[in-house]
Parts: sequence; structure tokens; C-alpha cells
Amino acid sequence: PDRYAVIGHPIGHSLSPQIHALFARATGQRMTYEAMDGGAQPGGFEAALAAFIAAGGRGLNVTLPFKLRALAAAHAASDEARLAGAANTLRFDAAGRIEAHNTDGAGLVRDITARLRQPLQGRRVLLLGAGGAARGALLPLARAGIACLRIANRSADKAEALAAEFAPRLPGCPVRGMGLEQLAALSAPHEGFDIVINATSASLAAQSPAVPAPLLAAAALAYDMVYGAAPTPFMQAARAAGCPRQSDGLGMLVEQAAESFAWWRGLRPDTSAALVAVRAALQ
Ligand code: ATR
Repeated sequence: PDRYAVIGHPIGHSLSPQIHALFARATGQRMTYEAMDGGAQPGGFEAALAAFIAAGGRGLNVTLPFKLRALAAAHAASDEARLAGAANTLRFDAAGRIEAHNTDGAGLVRDITARLRQPLQGRRVLLLGAGGAARGALLPLARAGIACLRIANRSADKAEALAAEFAPRLPGCPVRGMGLEQLAALSAPHEGFDIVINATSASLAAQSPAVPAPLLAAAALAYDMVYGAAPTPFMQAARAAGCPRQSDGLGMLVEQAAESFAWWRGLRPDTSAALVAVRAALQ
């Protein structure tokens, strides 16, 4: 069987082995998928990567804190990985050359459009946060045909810099950056958004980024990239504000896994059974 793995540090709670085992079984692929700890030592990731390739490994998923180093280690990279500045998926050819890709943003788009059935085409999108998670979503959101993108961040300068960097690369998709506190000056629904996506890590600290309630109320969907056993603080804030639909990011996790699987194996697994299984595993 062909060998795959996810590498991170820590890696113990990763759901990826379970997800890829389900995909492999459902599609009849002869493959193994394990979890590898890249360790905390300098060079630990690169050493584990080289050893995995030398042992005949075919591909890796990469998670925190190695996504930037995974891109740096690659000989070639997709547009998604280059613009995200990070790779969550690697594959290796027979000569040991490393190709990098990033499927996080495509996973987000797919979860919103296919599972939640919210079209992105022509929609106004508010993206909260200006870190790595937000960066990875920009190109796939623009390619999905959104009408415009507003990036709002606690530190306004980071959102403005990210918008300025991407504006020339996203033709047809006006991008603007601003501080979270400036959102209060927008009046929903005229200047409001159809979809609000939380790409901040605030939920990990049991907080929600401060978004004015009228903006949340006017949106059709509030999506948090973070997931957990209970609704995240951002989902709770959206619900309290009257937003009709909230989702956490577990579907994005399963969809990015499916995108990686397809990139490796050339066929796309069905994701609904895997999502049910990992949701049950979270409880
Ligand atoms: P990631 O890779 O998850 O994006 P990151 O690059 O460290 O992680 O970025 C974290 C993001 O979450 C940033 O946009 C951060 O805002 P700042 O740039 O102002 O620091 C945002 N963030 C973290 N905690 C937050 C909070 N409590 N409220 C609002 N935004 C928060």
C-alpha cells in the first residue's frame, strides 16, 4: 500500500488519520495514513520529511506549526500554496521532488457551497482576521466569484496590508482591509455582508471577535473556521444577534482532507459520511 501521513506538533488529537482511513475504504484505495510528530527541535520537521520520503512515502498533510516550512522545503508549489504562504499538503514524485499545495481555502469554499448550499458567486463576504488562516482563504474565495471582500482585523494595519498585497492578484474581486472597530460605521443591510467568516483564532481563547450585531443579523451565514464539541463563541454571538445560520469549521477540515486526497489519488471521496464520523468523535 502507498504510505501517507499527517505531520504536526503536537499531533495526538488530529482527526486526519480517521478521515483518510474512511476515504480510502470508501474509494477502495490501497493506502496507509499515519500521524507523525515533527517534534520541537530545529530541523526536526525537515529531518522527518526526508526520512518519510526515503522510506517511500507518497504524500503528507502538514499542520501547525510546520505549514510555512513545508512550503519552504518544496521544489514546486501551486498558486494556492504560494499565495497562502503556507502548504498543508505535499506530494513526492519518484525522484523525491517535493510539490506543495494548500487545500484549506478550497475546503472552506466547498463546505460553504456544497454542504451549506450557500452560493459564493456574487456574494459580499466579510473575512475576520488577517493571519495565516485568513490568507489561505483569499484566492479560493476570489475564484469562487464573490462580489467583494472586506477583511477586518483587530489590528487594522494587518488587514490593510493583506488587502493591499492581494488586491492586484485578485482581479474582479475588490478587496479592502480595515479595523474591526470600523465595522460599526457600516450600516447593514445596505453596506452589509451575505457571509461572515471568522478566520481569527479568538475562539481558541473562548472569545468572539467584536462584530456589530446588526452586521451579523443581516448575514445569511456566519462561519467559524474553528470547530469544537460545542458551538464556538463566534457562532453563539451570531446566533444571539439573529443570524439565521451558523457553522463551525469541521466541514472545512473534512473538505480540505478530501481535496488533498483527490490531489494525491486522482479521485474525490464523498465527504458526508466522514463528517458524521468526526462529529461523533468530537462529542
Ligand atoms: P492563524 O494562522 O490561525 O490565522 P495567526 O496568524 O496568529 O493565526 O492570526 C491570528 C488572527 O486572529 C489574527 O488576525 C489576530 O488578530 P491580530 O492580528 O489583531 O492579533 C486574530 N485574533 C486572535 N485573537 C483575537 C481576539 N480575541 N479578537 C479578535 N481577533 C483575534
